[in-house]
Amino acid sequence: MARKFFVGGNWKMNGTKSSIKEIVNNLNSAKLDPNAVPENKRSQKYTLLTSIPCTEVVVAPPSLYLHYVRDSLNKGIEVAAQNVYDKPNGAYTGEISVEQLKDSSVTWAILGHSERRTILGETDEVVASKTKFATDGGLSVIWCCGESLEEREAGKTVAVVTRQLDALKAKIGSDWSKIVVAYEPIWAIGTGKVATTEQAQEVHAAIRQWLKEKVDAKAADETRILYGGSVSEKNSVELSKQPDIDGFLVGGASLKPAFVDIINSTQ
Ligand code: PGA
Repeated sequence: MARKFFVGGNWKMNGTKSSIKEIVNNLNSAKLDPNAVPENKRSQKYTLLTSIPCTEVVVAPPSLYLHYVRDSLNKGIEVAAQNVYDKPNGAYTGEISVEQLKDSSVTWAILGHSERRTILGETDEVVASKTKFATDGGLSVIWCCGESLEEREAGKTVAVVTRQLDALKAKIGSDWSKIVVAYEPIWAIGTGKVATTEQAQEVHAAIRQWLKEKVDAKAADETRILYGGSVSEKNSVELSKQPDIDGFLVGGASLKPAFVDIINSTQ
């Protein structure tokens, strides 16, 4: 099966009414989506079909602006929350529920971002529980994982990512149809220090192998694995050529007009 290329924009806690309007207008007027699956991501089954949109695009504004962005973005670009709580509506001050997101036509959530893990103290288990609650409720999830610089230097990259994946699997079992995995080495996030194509591909291949061994061949074949960490229009084309890189989760550059070039990196 062909894995549709996927580009997510994580706006984090950035933007104001006027700058967000500018980003939305820029996306609405951009030329996206030539109707083709990139050659290296094409399977035999799809070679005769030409009308498969090339790239799926999802942007994650701060929660205060979700409504505005959903209502003003062109159809075809989906919207994600940057977090969601793993409880039904109720007395949870400051949180947002799956029900409220769906009620607002928000179809995605980013969960397990390293900033939430390290700054807000979310454990592997908390992230897994939120992911289970979100997917059971009908949301799709960009689930993030990745190692710190210290862990990479100690040769623990695959062990850390495997530990994070194991915790997720313990909650969600074998249905990965609503999960997009984002591999984001913490040392590459917001630092301008992008992983080399080899470093990224190596971990992506390890994640796919884990899916094959611990879940099944279908999950390994169909689950998109994104790279995140200082992705820009300068490095996205090269990264997109790697066989196990199925797209990007973009932070800083998703606030800039060049985000469109990243979306179009497989063209
Ligand atoms: P960056 O952030 O592109 O600014 O490095 C990526 C992310 O945190 O998802």
